[in-house]
Amino acid sequence: MIYGKRILLIVGGGVAAFKAIETLRLLRERGAEIRCVLTKAGGEFVTPLSLGALSGSKVHQDLFDLTAEAEMGHIQLSRWSDLVLVVPATADFMAKMAQGRADDLASTLVLATDKPVMIAPAMNVRMWEHPATRRNLEILRRDNVKVVGPNAGEMACGEYGYGRLSEPEEIAKAVVGHFLRRSRAQRLKGMRIVVTSGPTRESIDPVRYISNHSSGKQGVAVAEALARRGAEVIFVTGPAEFDSPEGCHVERVTTAEEMLRAVMDALPAEAMVAAAAVADWRMERPGENKMKKDGQGGAQMLRLVENPDILARVSALGPPLRPKLVVGFAAETTDVVNYARAKRARKGCDWIVANDVSPATGIMGGDENAVVLVTAEDEEPWPRLSKREVGDRLAERMTSALIGAARAEAAAALEKDGFA
Ligand code: PMT
Repeated sequence: MIYGKRILLIVGGGVAAFKAIETLRLLRERGAEIRCVLTKAGGEFVTPLSLGALSGSKVHQDLFDLTAEAEMGHIQLSRWSDLVLVVPATADFMAKMAQGRADDLASTLVLATDKPVMIAPAMNVRMWEHPATRRNLEILRRDNVKVVGPNAGEMACGEYGYGRLSEPEEIAKAVVGHFLRRSRAQRLKGMRIVVTSGPTRESIDPVRYISNHSSGKQGVAVAEALARRGAEVIFVTGPAEFDSPEGCHVERVTTAEEMLRAVMDALPAEAMVAAAAVADWRMERPGENKMKKDGQGGAQMLRLVENPDILARVSALGPPLRPKLVVGFAAETTDVVNYARAKRARKGCDWIVANDVSPATGIMGGDENAVVLVTAEDEEPWPRLSKREVGDRLAERMTSALIGAARAEAAAALEKDGFA
């Protein structure tokens, strides 16, 4: 339900304003905390007394009400809420919103808020169909304002058509749906996930290095998709063109050994995704000074040693450090799925995302990817998608698996305590 959700209900003018009272009652019944603002026109149709009695708090009507010392300022009031709901939204109020006008308390609050805004329009059918209202509606939708209704039906003025305020049940349902979608979008809240990305860079000497063509695009897409679902993402990236995913904590490293340290420092975590193209080798001893040609055209031999395998190390950790879900990527150029399957088993990760990085595919550095998700039970080829879509699909699969694991853990704990 919507227990504890705070809603700022702005009651606009119009004969349908009485439905705002029933909407308020339904929202209170569903657990929301409500504060009301009554516009001047709204005050012609409903009384502050009825709104105050049902909401259990003072009804605000005047911008200057809120300047008194004991009152909440209008900025605080507009930010106090989780949702600003306008019932009914008249043609005039929609026009004010679309223009960003702030000439009374209600319009000032809508302009000052940084919270989602939902409106339930109600007006005469000609006003609703007028090009000016259509333009305003388009602007509001573009501004991410959610719109409920209006419905078609007979109007108070005797005309018939669209413009009737949605029923209180419909408005309450839209509000509940809004909060449900938001909480669904935050399913990974409270979970930490480590994502490695980009190439690593291993010095040959002070001016040269070993690296690869990873751009970091796929790692960024995975990290952002997980962050959008509410996860705390620790994004450990090598020196990449794309190294700033939105909403993530970014750790920049250069070498594989630094990446390993940063990953270990970020544990424990619920999950890890290794999208980085880690250099498999580094110089046994990087030159202190720039290496010179021998002047005879002879080949230079580089003595390389293997880098630590970050994915294999994390997969081999015991509880509580090993993430519940460890996902690797496999970059192959031939026999992609067979190599990926063997890699998953060898490295001990739970899933591996296989992709063909032969130059002809354009995957390394490109905007698209064609992957096969390899798990212990299954091999699932996905169509060629944008890297953002691959990130989203993977994050969605991980979300289901992590939530399933969390539920199973909770059930086992209950059983252990004798509550089964
Ligand atoms: O960055 P983009 O341009 O968007 O390209 C994306 C990508 C092709 C780099 C990405 O989709 C990808 O395939 N990443 C893994 C690249 C890689 O190094 O694959 P691999 O098959 O060599 O390694 C297998 C797994 O082990 C990977 O998860 C890798 O991160 C991990 N590994 C490898 C070596 C090492 N020393 N430590 C590791 O953790």
